[in-house]
Amino acid sequence: IPVDDFDLVIFGATGDLAHRKILPGLFRRFVAGQIPETSQIIGAARTQQDDAQFRDAVAAAIVEHAGVKKNDPRLVQFLKLLGYVAIDATGQGGWKELAGRMRADAIHAFYFSVAPSLFGDLAERLASHGMAHGDSRIVVEKPFGRDLASARALNQTLAQHFDEDQVYRIDHYLGKETVQNLMAVRFANILFEPLWNAQYVDHVQITVAETVGVVGRGSYYDKSGAIRDMVQNHMMQLLCLIAMEPPYHFDPDAVRDEKLKVIRALEPVEPADIVRGQYEGDDGAGSYLDDVGDPDSRTESYIAMKVRISNWRWQGTPFYLRTGKRLRARTSEIAITFKEPPHSIFDDTGAPKANELVIRLQPNEGMNLKVMIKEPGPGGMRLVQVPLDMSFADALGAEGQDMPDAYERLIMDVIRGNQTLFMRGDEVEAAWAWTDPIIDSWEDSKRRPEPYDAGSSGPEEALRLMHRDNRRWREIR
Ligand code: BG6
Repeated sequence: IPVDDFDLVIFGATGDLAHRKILPGLFRRFVAGQIPETSQIIGAARTQQDDAQFRDAVAAAIVEHAGVKKNDPRLVQFLKLLGYVAIDATGQGGWKELAGRMRADAIHAFYFSVAPSLFGDLAERLASHGMAHGDSRIVVEKPFGRDLASARALNQTLAQHFDEDQVYRIDHYLGKETVQNLMAVRFANILFEPLWNAQYVDHVQITVAETVGVVGRGSYYDKSGAIRDMVQNHMMQLLCLIAMEPPYHFDPDAVRDEKLKVIRALEPVEPADIVRGQYEGDDGAGSYLDDVGDPDSRTESYIAMKVRISNWRWQGTPFYLRTGKRLRARTSEIAITFKEPPHSIFDDTGAPKANELVIRLQPNEGMNLKVMIKEPGPGGMRLVQVPLDMSFADALGAEGQDMPDAYERLIMDVIRGNQTLFMRGDEVEAAWAWTDPIIDSWEDSKRRPEPYDAGSSGPEEALRLMHRDNRRWREIR
């Protein structure tokens, strides 16, 4: 379904995110027929260049990241939508010209793909040049602050010129098809929901493992670490979608109200329930310390933690979270381990094992439910656990092969005016309120993260976090 005619301004249009994700994503939506040909996509950045130079640079980025040929007629068509205005974010240069290019009868969206320190300047100039009217939307990227105080300040700055329903805070995990699917699995089936609580769930594991290191973005990453880069946002969103109560309706505030309740119910995390790691080098690549160029850095590239949610539904069911760089494999999944049946009618050799539901977010998106059946053969009632395994690509055929990238989906939602998959200001603040004491406590402790080998499953210490509870992590592979 095509969206309405729009003018989208991308501040920071010469940057990496715009080239790698935003513009290739818009191109794919254009090819899919979702973007009206009258729409405008206006790049705005400090670099002095004209429309033609900007189009050339975008064409090269799209060739590289969207896998099309330079002379593909669809690319040639798409480039006609693009324009460029050189802008001085902290001065006056370029703003009049930008305002002059915006059409009165189109939807206006402004994408702040710039450092958060510029959000205030941009918002103020949009307002003083008449572009912050009631129907314009702004899109802001993570990191949204680096602690509660800075996030609050950012929210206040934006609120001076825009209402909350005009602000789209991106967490690109919410744009992933399989992440949205968590809600479909939970709330469009009757099968899981009755068991989805502490009475039946032994524990939950959420894993986001990456093989990449931080080389090339060390200066950002070293100031953030895994807690700010992944836990406060992406992992938190996954946790919320798994743990929240059913919203009364799939609409922005209903969904975000329920997520907020989960975040507010998170217990403070004890230092003993957290393991931080830092990767060492191997033959092929440098260590974390090499990658960030600081031999004394105490920033973590890995974190594992045991999280508890203090509410009626989850009291007593721990959630184990782990994420890290340069691990054995790139895999994101959520595993729900149910309790064992309360009584076995079979003898010891055939005692049932706990059911497990694994939702694979990436790659090989799908679901695997482990169930007990009888092992075939005349040897008596012997039980065996087998997978009910489904890959979404196989189950959905052609449609499942072509999953849109998170950014494509989210940008179209901005134009449609649908905030369901964006974070509300209070949600972001609540997430920082929970992570701040964790960060403060280890900064005070001055402890170094545990070393782990690149290409491994993370530090040994993280295994103990589970073993002590008589549980074990799923293998990363
Ligand atoms: C980003 C983080 O938000 O998410 C990166 O800054 C991380 O460090 C990335 O690599 C992971 O996203 P994805 O979509 O590759 O799982």
